[in-house]
Amino acid sequence: MGKKILLGISGGIAAYKACEVVRALVKRGDEVRVVMTKGAQEFIRPMTLQVLSENPVGTTTFDPGYESEIGHIDLARWADAVLLAPATANLIARMAAGMADDLLTTVLLATDAPVVVAPAMNTQMWRHPRVQANLVTLSEMPRHLVVDPDEGELACKEVGPGRLPDPEVLLQALDRAMSPQLLSDKKVLITAGPTREFIDPARFISNPSSGKMGHALARAASEMGAAVTMVRGPVSLDPPSGVDVVEVTTARQMHRAVMERAASMDYAVMVAAVADWRPADESDEKVKKREMTGQLELVKNPDILAELGARFGPDGDEAGPTLIGFAAESDDVVERARQKMKRKGAHLMVANKIGGPATAFGADRTTVSVLSEDKVVEIPLADKLAVARKIWENAH
Ligand code: C5P
Repeated sequence: MGKKILLGISGGIAAYKACEVVRALVKRGDEVRVVMTKGAQEFIRPMTLQVLSENPVGTTTFDPGYESEIGHIDLARWADAVLLAPATANLIARMAAGMADDLLTTVLLATDAPVVVAPAMNTQMWRHPRVQANLVTLSEMPRHLVVDPDEGELACKEVGPGRLPDPEVLLQALDRAMSPQLLSDKKVLITAGPTREFIDPARFISNPSSGKMGHALARAASEMGAAVTMVRGPVSLDPPSGVDVVEVTTARQMHRAVMERAASMDYAVMVAAVADWRPADESDEKVKKREMTGQLELVKNPDILAELGARFGPDGDEAGPTLIGFAAESDDVVERARQKMKRKGAHLMVANKIGGPATAFGADRTTVSVLSEDKVVEIPLADKLAVARKIWENAH
């Protein structure tokens, strides 16, 4: 469901990047209204933002035309969230002081929506103690979330913190600000992606897992306030912002990384498609074609979920995380998942049907059933992030 986002742009060189932010928001189905400070209008023209946002742009407090289209109080009430990108040192100072000397700061005082502040400025300005003190003031205000700037080369050629983060990072911060904090103070461990089991340096056994579901669960948990560690096999996805990532390749590495961390977690969610078998001997050198026999001896990999289940599951004797497993089945999905839940000692099982275009490996959308001891909740077909949020709503 699209949200109503008020984008406030203030006057720094990063203002031009606000165009990309508007495009990204509109693309994902959000409704966007833009308010620009006087300084912002020196860098980009309101018309550009009007075309991209498909809405009139607010520029001054006393514009009768704009006020009759949407008054500043209505605008403050309309927004589900406010994003300030870029937020200049000047805007941050005016907010910290509670001023209302232009349309943007007036709306900011009048809204009770969450406010995401994305500062971008010259590195020296960013480091100035007054700017830092104002940012502390903002981050201590209820509903306010400050996103740290990226480090790198700035438009002024200085190198250091001060760059506006990519639109994707800002969108994730908005989602976090709008999300119910169901998992605040919780620690979540997630496995994601496939593993690779090497035959020799040039060949391995693996599977087509994309890691999308694991990444969606990590992102959703992080939005809901959890401290998330994701142990992931080789995938080509950017990790969600704010998630601690442990990169592994083989099942045994994944097993070790999980076992080292599991006991201190509140939730352990095993989403990875772990290879069940690995070659009995891994050759250090590439095996020559003519030396191949056509036979490959395999040995079983550790079952990470089952091992956690034996210790921390319903019949285990150690206190530990709530264990959530995944079961991909092609028929009798719920019944087989229930048997798997018992066999592995998981507290919850997420079952999905494999086969069919929407449920194939690598798909962007999925439909699942969440099984617990005494019930089954069906989660209808949706994109994996929406499904991941629903899974957490049922699991927390
Ligand atoms: O037995 P199966 O592979 O169908 O079980 C799937 C569930 O078990 C998933 O949650 C998966 O992450 C987990 N698993 C595991 N270690 C393995 C195999 C599967 O943690 N070696």
